[in-house]
This record gives sequence, C-alpha cells and structure tokens, in this order.
Amino acid sequence: MRGSFSRLIKRGEKGEGKEFEFAEIAFRNLDFLDEFQFFEVVDSTNERAKFSKPFSLIFAEEQTSGRGRFGRKWVSRRGGLYFSIVLPLCSISKLTLVSALSVAESVKDSRIKWPNDVLLFGKKFCGILGEVFEDKAIVGIGINVENEVEFDFACNLRSFYRTSREEVFDAVTRNFAKNYVDLLAGKWSEVFERYAKLCETRGKRVRVLTPKGVIEGVAELCEDGAIVVNGEKVYSGDCIHLLN
Ligand code: BTN
Repeated sequence: MRGSFSRLIKRGEKGEGKEFEFAEIAFRNLDFLDEFQFFEVVDSTNERAKFSKPFSLIFAEEQTSGRGRFGRKWVSRRGGLYFSIVLPLCSISKLTLVSALSVAESVKDSRIKWPNDVLLFGKKFCGILGEVFEDKAIVGIGINVENEVEFDFACNLRSFYRTSREEVFDAVTRNFAKNYVDLLAGKWSEVFERYAKLCETRGKRVRVLTPKGVIEGVAELCEDGAIVVNGEKVYSGDCIHLLN
C-alpha cells in the first residue's frame, strides 16, 4: 500500500507519522501556507501543483516522472527531498533565484551555478524547476540528501555531512520564507546581493546553451536575474563553467 498513500493536511491539523512531521516543519516556517499535500509516490510534485491552490506545498517521498529543466528527467529515488510550492503569480525567474539562494544558504559551503543549480564542491545536489500555470507560480525543488545518485557530476549531502532530510527541509523552508517576504516587500536588491555572493558563475568563463545558440565568454550577473556573456544578455539557458 506504500505506493498509493497520500494525505492532505490543513494548517492546525495534528497527527502522527512522517507526513505530519514534515507538515509541521512546513507550517512552522512558511506563515503563508494553508495546506500540505503528502505523497508516498507521485508522478511529479510540479504536476500536482498545477491542480493545487496557491499557498500549498506538495511533498513526495518518490517521483515516478520527476521533471527537470529543458524537458529532462529528474531521477527521484527515496532518500531525497522533492517538493513544490504553489504561490500567486509573480516573477518566476526571481522566484527560482530566491529558491536557489534559500537552498544555498541552508547548506554550508554550497554555491550556486546560474541560474539555479546548487553545488557542493563542484557537484550538483539540488535542482529547481520554476513554472507558471494559469494564475500560479510553481517552484519545484529537488535535493539529493541520502538518495543514491547516478551521475558523476552529482552528489548527495550525506556524502559530506551528517544531516537528515528533516534538518535540510527545515533550513530551506525557513530561508525561503525570509527571502520570499523580502521579494514581496520590494527588497529585491538585498535578495539579489545575497544571491550574487553565493553564485560562482559570476566572473567565470562559461558556455551557455540558449534557444538561439551557444555563447562563450566571461559571465557577469545582472540584477534582473540574467547574465551577460560577450555583450549578450541571457535570461535562460544551460550554463557550463569552463576552466578559466
Ligand atoms: C533541474 O535541475 O533540471 C530541475 C530539477 C527540479 C526537480 C524538482 S523535484 C520536485 C519538483 N518536481 C519535479 O518534477 N521537478 C521538481
């Protein structure tokens, strides 16, 4: 039955089990949250988010069709954190930077690869997928905590730290609340400054695969969340750090 278990938890509802443990963390840290949806197994939390109300958080232990950027697959085995936050429509590019910043602030020594991959010692442990659906902004966060990873360029947090999924979820949601409140309060410059300090793409030689082609050069960060490479402003793309 493990596969089919799911539960909708409203703010103020009490109960036992890991679904309530994660729900309690989410409600404590995210003041705006109305409901927490827990899935033992789900196709994709971002997909469920499309059919959920703003101010919901969709959480899954496992995803069968986890999605990444550019239509890629996000392998989502047990032991990782997979969740999506549904919010009223706002700038999705700023919201994804806010999410990457919140994760990077939660994990010691981690750095951001523009726009929103979070790396530890050069290996990716977190990916973020921001999407707009109807009148909603959806931000999906995947973090490798103690799940096995299959690629050389990826890692999980347990290879470096004695940490738990609860501890990571607590820190990320706490930082997300702070950064999201700042975004809504019009303090984008301050949020961006924190992002820029943790972003290692700044000043690096990069190759960016954009819908218009490949650009190579030294990357500079812009406050609107874009990068400038060879005089060209890029808002979205797959960025590779090259050896300088
Ligand atoms: C990427 O790096 O390409 C983005 C990966 C985003 C993965 C997360 S896991 C939770 C949410 N649900 C999904 O299907 N994708 C995002």
